[in-house]
Amino acid sequence: MKIAISGKGGVGKTTLAALLARLYASEGRPVLAIDADPDANLASAIGFSRELAEKITPIVELKDLIEERTGAKPGSSAPFFRLNPRVDDIPERFAGLHAGVKVLVMGTVKTGGGGCVCPENVLLKHLLQHAIVYRDEVVIVDMEAGIEHLGRATASSVDAFIVVVEPGQRSLQTALTVKRLAVDIGIHRCFVVGSKTASKGDRDFIVAGLPEMEVIGFISRSDRIIEADLKGLSPFDLDQDAVQEARQIRRRLDEALAK
Ligand SMILES: Nc1ncnc2c1ncn2[C@@H]1O[C@H](COP(=O)(O)OP(=O)(O)O)[C@@H](O)[C@H]1O
Ligand SMILES: [Mg+2]
Repeated sequence: MKIAISGKGGVGKTTLAALLARLYASEGRPVLAIDADPDANLASAIGFSRELAEKITPIVELKDLIEERTGAKPGSSAPFFRLNPRVDDIPERFAGLHAGVKVLVMGTVKTGGGGCVCPENVLLKHLLQHAIVYRDEVVIVDMEAGIEHLGRATASSVDAFIVVVEPGQRSLQTALTVKRLAVDIGIHRCFVVGSKTASKGDRDFIVAGLPEMEVIGFISRSDRIIEADLKGLSPFDLDQDAVQEARQIRRRLDEALAK
């Protein structure tokens, strides 16, 4: 199962990614969670202590490795570098492990954003491709609204692309944009999860606002999720109602994919 999660900033992507990662792991399945958001905080949401989270080195910061694998110094404008660098050993070497979830942190590319062709982006893109296309694990990717690192080669192996929205016009607009980008690169199984919903009115607003997308569930607005974030704990450990909702989302996902 390969799941990519996107949506507007602050809607609850990382919270959902963490809940799903811990849920699959609690069933004894091997899980690789990839933090592909420059504003990386997935490890903390999965339940890593601050100390352990800090031990996970973002891949873009591994300058020597990037140079070794691509043949070019990161940040350099070397005209030639390997476009097909070896990456298959990276998850084992650089992921952190907590509660059965392996976490890889991609980090922020400082030169020209995620779209530029520079050694670090080539490596990240290949790493993501390797994880999504070849790894025999549940892979969950926590992304920003931009999906630059997901190339065509990777897109067709994504089983489910989940766009998280909150009750509000702006996040619905972002969802439509993200969906269009996803469809453009060949992702067709796009689903919506409504987050921070507090009423049936909120849930109806989301369903009515995205008539052409399939809403597979909700993570209700919850004080325990806020508390978990304040304390640096995982919502999975603090909010059983949210875990139940994640379980429901997982079930709907399985049903939709079996069709
Ligand atoms: N269902 C929810 N109820 C209440 N607060 C939430 C909920 N989901 C997320 N939050 C809070 O909203 C903020 C952003 O959530 P996060 O999952 O980090 O979003 P994103 O990854 O999309 O930026 C965090 O402080 C988080 O605790
Ligand atoms: Mg996030």
